[in-house]
Amino acid sequence: MKLNQNKLGGLAVFVALALSSCSTAIHTQKIVKHAQSQTNLLLTEIPKANNKNGMLVSPRTVEQGELRLVASKDWTSGFFPGNLWYLYELTKDEDRKVQAEKFTALIEKEKMNGTTHDMGFKIYCSFGNGYRLTGNQHYKDVIVQSAKTLITRFNPKVGALRSWDHNSDKWDFPVIIDNMLNLELLFEATRLTGDSTYHDIAVKHANTTMKNHFRPDYSTWHVISYNPETGAVEKRNTHQGYSDDSAWARGQAWGIYGYTMCYRYTKNPAYLAQAENIARFIFSNKNMPKDLIPYWDFDAPKIPDEPRDVSAAAVISSALYELSTYSKKEDYLKLAKKITATIASKYKSADGMNKGFILDHSTGHYPKNSEIDVPINYADYYFLEGLVREERLKHHQAVVQ
Ligand code: GLY
Repeated sequence: MKLNQNKLGGLAVFVALALSSCSTAIHTQKIVKHAQSQTNLLLTEIPKANNKNGMLVSPRTVEQGELRLVASKDWTSGFFPGNLWYLYELTKDEDRKVQAEKFTALIEKEKMNGTTHDMGFKIYCSFGNGYRLTGNQHYKDVIVQSAKTLITRFNPKVGALRSWDHNSDKWDFPVIIDNMLNLELLFEATRLTGDSTYHDIAVKHANTTMKNHFRPDYSTWHVISYNPETGAVEKRNTHQGYSDDSAWARGQAWGIYGYTMCYRYTKNPAYLAQAENIARFIFSNKNMPKDLIPYWDFDAPKIPDEPRDVSAAAVISSALYELSTYSKKEDYLKLAKKITATIASKYKSADGMNKGFILDHSTGHYPKNSEIDVPINYADYYFLEGLVREERLKHHQAVVQ
């Protein structure tokens, strides 16, 4: 596709304005101190929360003033263990390591759960970080088993991993943009075993998604449903966005993160270009606020009177730290820093509030009227990941280990 000069010019002006209007100074120690004391609070709240017969293992959000815990099968169960691992990495606090090990172990059984595509979210954020930081061989085995389970959802006709089994009356073979994040687990499984099967499936999924999920302006649909026999696209829908043709903010975030990560493992320039093009869509969008924290959907009808989604901002920012090491097309690093600095100054939980979550103001599922303008574990996760990346770059280390 030909680049539109006006759009490119608009992006450059927008970025310049956005970056000039606010400080990008990141006070890591202060941010980590806040994250640490919030996490201490959250750890004291977990045993007090409603835990249906002890089946719930991980804190997800705050609902009507109460801490909401989830079972290991919930797509978000790996984020809190991941947060503990990132805090351990940032502080070297041995207590955090012990806590991370404890909460990681609680979701191990998911390695055999083939009923969902969310394996990467659950297992890579928890066991993946645990393995990276400790070299524990058992964690490696869990990662490989999880990848084996995940690839049972791959359909060679479609060239993709099936996302959901629910709503089978509506979708024959739904694939959602979020699924891109699960590919990291597959790339790693090949790196750990030497078996290229996982890598090859990840590449096929990324290629199919690149072909079918994106509009000419590089915004992404949320759900593409395929015919499982022929591989033909049957439907293009949303589930969590405003409408089928809108740009759900977190969907765009999963897209830029996914293709940046795929470039890391493949060095395929098409993936890098895809990430750059998604960045251009995000940052040249007329509805992107000056502080770079998106509304929950770029096309939400009542902007500026719509809730923000800090989780989308945190995912985008973490992706931009990595993208900045592969591409100089824009000042991606400055954008990442600005988002991190803004989240830390304007969107964090007040001290001692929100049951100990680090950030506030994320939107989970607006159309279902669920988790609107709330603290949520995955916003905290990608924010801490961004902070780890910020620190690595500051110390001239590879952005991802
Ligand atoms: N992966 C589900 C979500 O982003 O809400």
